[in-house]
Formats: sequence, C-alpha cells, structure tokens
Amino acid sequence: MKAPFLLRSSIPERINYITVVFVLMISLFLSSCSEVEKKGLALTPPMGWNSWNAFQGNINEAKIKEAADIMVSSGMRDAGYEYLVLDDGWMAKERDSTGNLVGDPEKFPNGMKSLGDYIHKKGLKFGIYECRGFLTCMKLPGSFKHEKQDMQTFASWGVDYIKLDGCYAERNGRLSSVELAIYRTSIDETGRPMVLSISDFGNGSWAWGAKESAQLWRTSYDIYPDIESVYACAATTGGNEAIHPAFNGLGQFAGPGHWNDADMLQVGNLPDISQDKIHFGLWCILASPLMAGNDLSSMPDDIRDILTAPEVIAVNQDARGLQGYKVSETGNTEIYNKPLSDGTTAVLLLNKGEDTADIKVTWEMIGLSGKQKVRDLWERKELGEFNDSFTAAKLSKNGHMLIKVGTPGGTIIPGPSPLPLEKYTVTRDGTTWLTELYYIMKSGDAPQYDKNFNGDAISVNGTRYEKGLGCRSSLRIMFKINGKADRFTAVVGSDDFYSGKETSRFRVLNEDFFGNQVLFDSGKIKPDSLVNIDINIKGVDYLLLMFDGEHTYGVWADARVISPQN
Ligand code: GLA
Repeated sequence: MKAPFLLRSSIPERINYITVVFVLMISLFLSSCSEVEKKGLALTPPMGWNSWNAFQGNINEAKIKEAADIMVSSGMRDAGYEYLVLDDGWMAKERDSTGNLVGDPEKFPNGMKSLGDYIHKKGLKFGIYECRGFLTCMKLPGSFKHEKQDMQTFASWGVDYIKLDGCYAERNGRLSSVELAIYRTSIDETGRPMVLSISDFGNGSWAWGAKESAQLWRTSYDIYPDIESVYACAATTGGNEAIHPAFNGLGQFAGPGHWNDADMLQVGNLPDISQDKIHFGLWCILASPLMAGNDLSSMPDDIRDILTAPEVIAVNQDARGLQGYKVSETGNTEIYNKPLSDGTTAVLLLNKGEDTADIKVTWEMIGLSGKQKVRDLWERKELGEFNDSFTAAKLSKNGHMLIKVGTPGGTIIPGPSPLPLEKYTVTRDGTTWLTELYYIMKSGDAPQYDKNFNGDAISVNGTRYEKGLGCRSSLRIMFKINGKADRFTAVVGSDDFYSGKETSRFRVLNEDFFGNQVLFDSGKIKPDSLVNIDINIKGVDYLLLMFDGEHTYGVWADARVISPQN
C-alpha cells in the first residue's frame, strides 16, 4: 500500500515508508515529552562545579576565575564538567536604579558579563544562582516580581544555567507550579537556552510535575560534609526517605531532560577518601547531577581522580537516563542496579555497617542469567566471567564496589516498571480513603497506614477508627488527587496513646509548602481535643498534609477524598 500524501515518484517507495515511520516515531516521542525536554537541554544529568559547598557566600572574581582555570587544567572539563555555577553571594545588596540585578562591585569589579565571557572562553558554561523569594537565602535581592527582567539580564550576561532557590517563596502567594511556569516562559522569551535547576530542599517537585518547567530539582535538604548527610540525601532519591516505599525511590520521575538532584557533591570535603568515593559512586548510580563542591585550588590528586573517573562518570551519563534503583537491602548492605544503553548494567554494592561484609549480587536480581563478564569500574579492570552471581568480598565500613555486568551489545536489560497511576492517585467516583493511595512525597517519619504511629489501632478521644494515618510530628505528606475530588474530610487529633501535654497542629495545603495555599488550619490543639475537617478541594491536583508539634503523635482519622458521582 502506498502512503499517497508523501509519495514522490522519484523516491523509492520503501524509503518513503521508512521516512513516514521515522517521522511518526519522532512526532510520537516529541508529543510524549514535556515542553522542557523538547528543548534538548540536560539530556544527561548536568555536570559542573558550584561555589557553595567550598566557599558559601565568600566568593569573588579571582576565586571564580581560578576555579574556571582549574576545571580546565585538572581535566575536569574534558571529563564532562561543563557548568561553572556561582551560588548565593554574587550580587550587590541593591538592584540598580532601573531595577536590574548587578554583581557585588567589590567582589566582581568587572561585572558579571565579563566573568561570563571568561568562563565561556575556557570552553565552560556559565551558571548563576537566584531565588524566587523576594530575598535570596543570604538576604540579597530575590527575583520575586522581577522574573522577566532578571531572566533577560541573565541572558544578556550569557548565562546558561540558573539555580533557582526557594527561600521566602511561601510569601509570594502563588502555587509553585504556576511560579515555575513564569520562569520557564520568561527564559523562553529571552531566546537563550538556559537550564532551570530547582532548589526547593525536597518539597516535592518531582511529585507535582516540575519537569514541565525545569530540568532538575532537589530531593533533599542541604547536604553537609558528613557521610550520614550524604546517605540521607541519597536516600531521598534512591530510597524511601521522600516517597512511599512502594515506589522504590524517585526513579520513575527521572529521565533525559529531567533529573532528581540529591544536592551538590561534597567529594573532597569528607573526612576520608573511601567516603568521598562512595559518595561519588552513589550519585553516579542514582543519575544525580554531578556538581562538584570542593575548593579546586587545593584539590589533591586522589580527589581529582575520583571526580574524573571515566568509567564511573559514564554510568551517570549513560544516554538511556535510567536512575539506578535498589535491588537489595539487608541490614546495612545495599545493592543498586542501573541498566545501561549498551545492554550491560552497572551495579553498586555498598556496606554502610560497622562490620566487614561480603555482598553478593545474583544475576537474577539485575535481569541477567548464566555466565556474565564483570568489570571493576573504579579500577578499570576485567574481573573475569562469573556464573549466576558475583560477591564483593570483605567490604569494610563505607566500602563499596561499582561493577559493570554483561557484554556490550547484548539485549537491553529492562528497567523497573513504574508504579501505575491508579496506585497513587484518585481514579474512581465516590470515596477514596487516603490510605488506599501511596503518598507521592514525604518529609519526616513515615506515617502508618490505618494504624497509629506505634502500629496499634487508631483511637482518638476513646473512638476507634479503622482508617487513617498515624503520624509523629513534624511530618509533611503529599497525595496526588488529580483534580478528581471535591471534598476532603477527616477527624484529626492526638492518638489516645500519647500521654504528653504538647499541642499539635494540622494543616492541609494545595500543592506544596512554598505555594502556601492553606485550605485548612486547625491552629494549635490540645491533646484531648479533636477537630473535624470537611473542606472543598475542587480542582486541587495535589494535597499536602502537614502535622506539627513538639514530639507529638497525631492521626488523620478517616481521611478521605470524595469525588462527584457521575
Ligand atoms: C540554600 C540552598 C543551598 C545554597 C544556599 C545559598 O540553602 O539549598 O544549596 O544555594 O541556599 O544561600
């Protein structure tokens, strides 16, 4: 059969069919992409260096130029680190008389455009920090009500990457999704492609679809040069720290053009090299952006070697863009799997415990079988062929191995199946108990489903409830409603097992914390009182439940949403 609308008699029919299929495939792919992905930015996790972890606000032109020089001379640029990002502290305390942002004249006497030119001449890209509040976190001028103007200013300076913080944004009176769309439109209007990196301390950008406006978003609070902080940040994206365990991490929200950012690297700032190494290995397997944060002017060779390890970086930068996911967790040992685009898979075996451990990965866990080649990616060395499994022997505390299993060119190994929508959003008319849905974002201790926080039956003022969430303060949890429900009802109060005297507070918000659209606020309530909630949530896509108090235990009893019956 012919495809008449495309046929030209001089072109063989077969080629036309191929063209048609190709065009259809491309248009299908593009129509399934978000607006941001279509721009082709950040198709692999962004890599660069950011000034904050090394210097905080103490930056100036000389330091930044030196960092640019070393990014080149150390081999970092050639290893893939392309963005040099100035974090908070670069700007003057006041805008100029026309309301434009200006660099701090003492720190940056030649201005920001000239610094950008220097960075570009080095073959690097220029990144800059701003904040969507009226002030930055360091209390310098924020972009609120100057969005268009600031994006124009950045474009005129040659900026390629914007890290957008969230301090004070809760005062803006706009939903975060609305606010970020303003930035996206303002960026697009400049005509300059600029990556938008959301720094909202893990408030749930993945959950409410920040990928429509941004290429990456933070999943955690700020990272510190401490291995526990590193593990906690990793757990927000690769574990259950920020989402219901049923999701097995945030992987399903990441991919080419949209990344979960476990925060900037502390490699080189940790107390020992094995910690630096595991930190880097974890960020690579989790496809987290790699923003180095060490003082490059005093970088020892062994830290440079970690940051530029080619085969480890290749795992992070794999074009398929799958985020690695946990396939095993026993006590203090963990195994992550990241199927790659060449038919092999990267596996990270980690010992977080005090005692030395042997960690075994079976091929079954990672979608393979039989005899498989194993390569050590840090050592860049073949380890041989192994039947059915591989054991990383005698891993000491914070010890790990990063290996590649399989033969390039082999059949592509499938990634994990995303959790289907009906498991975490409202899909039917009438009542949906919130505990029928997996929460899509959490910060604080995981709530208990249909139990109090201790795991016993829910009881408030002597009344038992079958359904509800048992919590310990402070907790934020988000549910995806998808605009499907009209009402939210619940009975809230302290669970009867709580014998303390502290007050607690229950709030319901539309979308995230920074949007600050409060739909319900109980105020401070005493442990022996309860409050009935019955509110209109028409059109609400995401419901954020907030529970606060000093070590109090509360319940959202009978929490449900009600959709109109058709
Ligand atoms: C917040 C961000 C940090 C850094 C500082 C700057 O805390 O999370 O990464 O940008 O602000 O003030």
